[in-house]
Amino acid sequence: MAQGVRGTRDFYPEDMRLRNWLFDRFRSAAREHGFEEYDAPVLEHEDLYTRKQGEEITQQLYGFEDKGGRRVALRPEMTPSLARMVMARAGALPTPIKWFSIPQCWRYERTQRGRGREHYQWNVDIWGADGVEADAELLSVLVSFFRSVGLTSDDLSIRVSSRKVLEEVLGSIGVTGEAFPAVCVIVDKMDKLPQDAIAAQLSEQGLGEDDISSVTSVLGLSDISQLSSALGSDSPAVSELTELFQLASAYGIEEWLSLDASVVRGLAYYTGPVFEAHDRAGELRAVCGGGRYDRLLSTLGGKDMPATGFGFGDMVIMELLADKGLVPDLPSGNEDVVMSLGEDLRHAAMSVASKLRESGRSVDLVLDDKRMKWAFKHADRTGAQRLVMVMPDEWSSGNVRIKDLDTGEESDVAFDDL
Ligand code: HAM
Repeated sequence: MAQGVRGTRDFYPEDMRLRNWLFDRFRSAAREHGFEEYDAPVLEHEDLYTRKQGEEITQQLYGFEDKGGRRVALRPEMTPSLARMVMARAGALPTPIKWFSIPQCWRYERTQRGRGREHYQWNVDIWGADGVEADAELLSVLVSFFRSVGLTSDDLSIRVSSRKVLEEVLGSIGVTGEAFPAVCVIVDKMDKLPQDAIAAQLSEQGLGEDDISSVTSVLGLSDISQLSSALGSDSPAVSELTELFQLASAYGIEEWLSLDASVVRGLAYYTGPVFEAHDRAGELRAVCGGGRYDRLLSTLGGKDMPATGFGFGDMVIMELLADKGLVPDLPSGNEDVVMSLGEDLRHAAMSVASKLRESGRSVDLVLDDKRMKWAFKHADRTGAQRLVMVMPDEWSSGNVRIKDLDTGEESDVAFDDL
């Protein structure tokens, strides 16, 4: 009982400081691009997630029956909740809808570096805009965030492709409709599962050996001109990606991007541009991932609306920042430590603390009898700026002694001037 559930985390105050620091940067990058924050419950109806294309995420669902006999689940991702919210107000919400959130998500995963059974996932999505401009705007949000935490394009790259690449290849061999998302989900597992397992799954979807090799050869491509000779210069996938890269250079973020046709993403609902950020050293799992999903609403019984977005977990990024020495050393945020010398000045110290708190300072009042030496150490350990001492002689003339802990300077300040 002394241990929490496997794959979950406790956040002690020092962990919470870092989490808030990270979330502040998530929020600023989204806010500076004009996105508004929303939230949804962590518990949803299970059937919001029961998609039938063999995705890992549905196999990892924390689903159970509630006391009323309903099948419910802890959300493994935010996108279906967001879709539900948009659908409930379809028509009433002015578009484009530009929303972000930082939900906790639950997946019964094999725990490993950067992967737990719960994580916080920054989600940034745009609904109601079908042009590739919206996808480019999302990439700009991502890069703003990376820059704000001190990362550069030497540390990370955002690998970009489009589901349309695979759609065109598969269309030419007659794999369309329902089979298309299922094949994407299998292709995404190509580097994780043995070749014959993949081949068996693909053959269930109607792909023969030759088909598999044409898919594999296109997935190996990593520049536009190769892609254009493979798919033809009139290929919609090629023009979409060409435009996306042009927009990225207008944003000044092209050095962060690379074309990588092997990026397919493991979720069934993507339809257009898809992307994932990876550390250049290749030591970590994906830092984030997303893409366009224009047909999600019809799978939930609604009318489709174009949408694009990404999810960005809080775990891999902290691993990467640690590797790069970019995790900040954050103080507690307490500004003043107030202490009295002697029991009879305890009430005075309380009124001093109250006065400072009313003025907006964050004040840690020493609650029991401590020696001066302890107070110094405590103030130093918590990163306070000032030690405010209520001492007999000074107090009798209406003053407190304030020590600036940076400069070491001491001065007497009248209570009324605090
Ligand atoms: P996803 O690729 O499943 O996409 O997850 C997005 C990101 O969430 C991952 O790249 C990773 O940073 C983080 N993540 C996922 N699972 C875990 C885990 N078990 N532990 C730690 N971090 C994890 C989605 O969920 C899509 N709904 C994203 C999206 C939003 N697409 C469009 N809008």
